[in-house]
Amino acid sequence: CEKQDGRPFRQRLLVVANRLPVSAVRRGEDSWSLEMSAGGLVTALLGVKGFEARWIGWAGVNVPDKVGQDALTDALAQKKCIPVFLDEEIVHQYYNGYCNNILWPLFHYLGLPQEDRLATTRSFQSQFAAYKKANQMFADVVNQHYEEGDVVWCHDYHLMFLPKCLKEYNTNMKVGWFLHTPFPSSEIHRTLPSRSELLRSVLAADLVGFHTYDYARHFVSACTRILGLEGTPEGVEDQGKLTRVAAFPIGIDADRFIRALDTQPVQEHIRELKERFAGRKVMLGVDRLDMIKGIPQKILAFEKFLEENSDWHDKVVLLQIAVPTRTDVPEYQKLTSQVHEIVGRINGRFGTLTAVPIHHLDRSLDFHKLSALYAVTDVALVTSLRDGMNLVSYEFVACQDAKKGVLILSEFAGAAQSLGAGAILVNPWNITEVAASIAQALNMPAEEREKRHRHNYMHVTTHTAQEWAETFVSELNDTVVEAQLRTRQ
Ligand code: ADP
Ligand code: G6P
Repeated sequence: CEKQDGRPFRQRLLVVANRLPVSAVRRGEDSWSLEMSAGGLVTALLGVKGFEARWIGWAGVNVPDKVGQDALTDALAQKKCIPVFLDEEIVHQYYNGYCNNILWPLFHYLGLPQEDRLATTRSFQSQFAAYKKANQMFADVVNQHYEEGDVVWCHDYHLMFLPKCLKEYNTNMKVGWFLHTPFPSSEIHRTLPSRSELLRSVLAADLVGFHTYDYARHFVSACTRILGLEGTPEGVEDQGKLTRVAAFPIGIDADRFIRALDTQPVQEHIRELKERFAGRKVMLGVDRLDMIKGIPQKILAFEKFLEENSDWHDKVVLLQIAVPTRTDVPEYQKLTSQVHEIVGRINGRFGTLTAVPIHHLDRSLDFHKLSALYAVTDVALVTSLRDGMNLVSYEFVACQDAKKGVLILSEFAGAAQSLGAGAILVNPWNITEVAASIAQALNMPAEEREKRHRHNYMHVTTHTAQEWAETFVSELNDTVVEAQLRTRQ
């Protein structure tokens, strides 16, 4: 079953990401239950259909024993997932350490954690060694499952070393790498002790993708300035080998949300929410409880709005749904306490015996409840300090065709480039500006809301996760074809 150019019709796609779409919870010696993982990477990739895909990654749990590993491997196989088993020490150094304490804040322009900056600097080398070791473990599993003709698509900052490891196994493997976070200015990237090694490893891929043109440009300029390589309009060239670099803005499976709104459970939740918040405008924040999301800043801006608009006190409520994430990393633990403290203070200040202005939940909501919440919201607040794209803003827009609510969106989220014309763009660090935008959104005339919504809805429903994946994989195939043509000449 082959096309004329020799490519198989249904190419197998090996998706490699640190996090599998399901996380495992042990129920007995050889019994496991699987729960949906949180985060934009999983959301986007689950929206991709039509590929013969296998997902290789970590199930979020330490499984030291063979019985447990075999049972989990079988349970995951039913979901077309293949586990990479990482022990506690590797998780501590690679995932909590190098990935989430170093790369994540740095790529989001937040620098290293303030208090233990020196300690972090001292542990760079051991954590980078663990990072490379973990990447090699992913490569080993990919290599075991790879069949000729497969396309290997590596994801995110956890796996920057993977393209190099894979090409060492097999130079003919088609390897793509996509970053789900911003790629920072080269001035930030060059502070990393492992800056050159990381760039060179990524360049081993055939295609390197980012959410926005700016992130791609930063990457190319890091390769030019740090490695002295030539940047071309197509990508980066090193000794005759071209690594194609381009922007592939991600999307969501908008139809899934749109269809859900007509279902009985979602309609039931919508009815309950409308009853519960009758007479009040609903403002909504949905985030992982992460420092990049600007949750404390958002809540302080809401407080400022309440201070300046006493006529709104009992007419508006902010629902902040924040799913805990990376809870073993001290910075995240501090953030949780900080958010709780601020919410408590503001509710104490502005609450009454019967109502509080902020409902803050530290939890994940299931798909139906989340869709219903998006649908009843009047104003969504996405105030990330930095964000690769931010799919919450897309999900909100997809659920708003009846209500036409307003999106307040950080100018530092990748989504500002696609939804900027329909949203109210804000600098999340400026709480006075965000407070004024809240007032603007709550008072916006219906005609303007309609116009802004139309723009965003059109974008979200046409630039989908499916289109994103098809474009990336097709371009990845073409880079290989080009390479083959070159060798034939
Ligand atoms: P990130 O990739 O940083 O997690 P995104 O906004 O791109 O940010 O994606 C977050 C994804 O996780 C979205 O699909 C969103 O619906 C989901 N999510 C975030 N917080 C929650 C929550 N509290 N409950 C349910 N889903 C959540
Ligand atoms: C972001 C990252 C993903 C990650 C997700 C959840 O979306 O880009 O790679 O999976 O956050 O974080 P976690 O550390 O729980 O996987």
